[in-house]
Amino acid sequence: MSSRDTDWDGVRLHVVTGKGGTGKTTVAAALALALAADGRKVLLVEVEGRQGIAQVFDLPPLPYEERRVAVAPGGGDVYALAVDPEEAMLEYLEMFYGMRRAGRALSKMGIVDFATTIAPGFRDVLVTGKTTEAVRRKGKDGRRIYDAVVLDAPPTGRIVRFLNVTNEVAGLARVGPIKNHADLVSGVVASPETAVHFVTLLEEMPVQETLDGITELRGAGLPAGGVFTNMVRTSGLPEAALDAAAAGRFDPMELALGLKAAGLADGDPNAAALAEALAQEISEHARRTELERQERVSLDAAGRPRYELPLLPDGVDLAGLYELAESIRAQGAA
Ligand SMILES: Nc1ncnc2c1ncn2[C@@H]1O[C@H](COP(=O)(O)OP(=O)(O)OP(=O)(O)O)[C@@H](O)[C@H]1O
Ligand SMILES: [Mg+2]
Repeated sequence: MSSRDTDWDGVRLHVVTGKGGTGKTTVAAALALALAADGRKVLLVEVEGRQGIAQVFDLPPLPYEERRVAVAPGGGDVYALAVDPEEAMLEYLEMFYGMRRAGRALSKMGIVDFATTIAPGFRDVLVTGKTTEAVRRKGKDGRRIYDAVVLDAPPTGRIVRFLNVTNEVAGLARVGPIKNHADLVSGVVASPETAVHFVTLLEEMPVQETLDGITELRGAGLPAGGVFTNMVRTSGLPEAALDAAAAGRFDPMELALGLKAAGLADGDPNAAALAEALAQEISEHARRTELERQERVSLDAAGRPRYELPLLPDGVDLAGLYELAESIRAQGAA
C-alpha cells in the first residue's frame, strides 16, 4: 500500500449526496474504486433499496451481505452492501434484545414495516448504524477492516435529517439502546472522519440545491466534503470563438467560407443556410458554456474542493466507471 496525499486522507466515511439523477450512485461507485486503488479495501453502501450499485457494476441484485464487487486499479477491493432496513432491524433486535426469532415474527406481522414507517428516524438510524458499524469495525490485529466506507446516500433534500439521527430519535428514545445506537452513529458522522460530498451538474437547480445543502449541513454541525461536478461537457471551441459566439458576434459568412474551404459546401446551394444553422448552434453552445462558467463561480464561493467529471458520451459502463475513478484520483479526491 502506498502512502497518499489526497484531499481526504483522514476520512473514513464518504457520504455522497446530491440532487436526484445527478449521478450520486455513479460517483459513489467511482469514488469507491478510486479509494480502493493500490491494495486498499473499501465498502460501498447503498441505502435506498434500489439496487443501483448492482446496476453500475453490472451484477445481479446484491443480498444483504458484504460482497466483493470489483477490483480496483493497482489491486484493491471494493465490497458492496445493499442495506435493507428490515434486515437491519432484525439484526438490531438480535443485538440488543436477543430477539431475532421474535423479530422475524414481528416482521411477518408487518410490525417492522409499521415501526419504520411511523418513525422514519428509526429507519434511518438502523441504516446509518449499519454503515458506521462498518466504519468502526476492527480486525483481530486492531486495525480497521475497511480503509474507507462510501455511502450512496439519500438526496440533498433529506441528507441532514438522515445523518442527524440523534435529533431524529430524541423523541423516540432519551435513554436505552436506541439512544446509545444513535450516539455511536453521531460519534462517527459528526467527526472529522466523515465527509459529506455533493454531486451536481453545472445547472442552476442542482447548483442551488448544493449550496443550500452545504449551508444546512454546516448549520447542523456536520462535515461538508467536496463538490463533484458531474457530466461536464468539453467545449472543443477556442475561448475567443466562444466569447464571440456568446456575444452574438459569430459571423455566419466567415463560417460559410470556412465550410467552403473545407470542401464541405462545394456547389451546395444551401451552403448559406447550413452556415446559418451551424452559427446558431454555436451561439447556443457558447451561451451554455457561459452559464456553466457562472455556475462554477457560484459553486466555488462555497469554498469546498471541487472536482470535475466528464460526461461519458456512451453512458456509464464498467470501463466508464474506471475512467471516472481515474479522473477522481488524478484530481486528488482519492
Ligand atoms: N459522467 C457521466 N457521464 C454519462 N452518464 C452519466 C454520468 N454520470 C451518471 N450518468 C448516468 O446518469 C444516470 C443517473 O446516474 P445515477 O443513477 O448515478 O444518478 P443518481 O443521482 O444516483 O440517481 P437517483 O437520484 O435516481 O438515485 C445514469 O443513467 C448514469 O449512467
Ligand atoms: Mg442513485
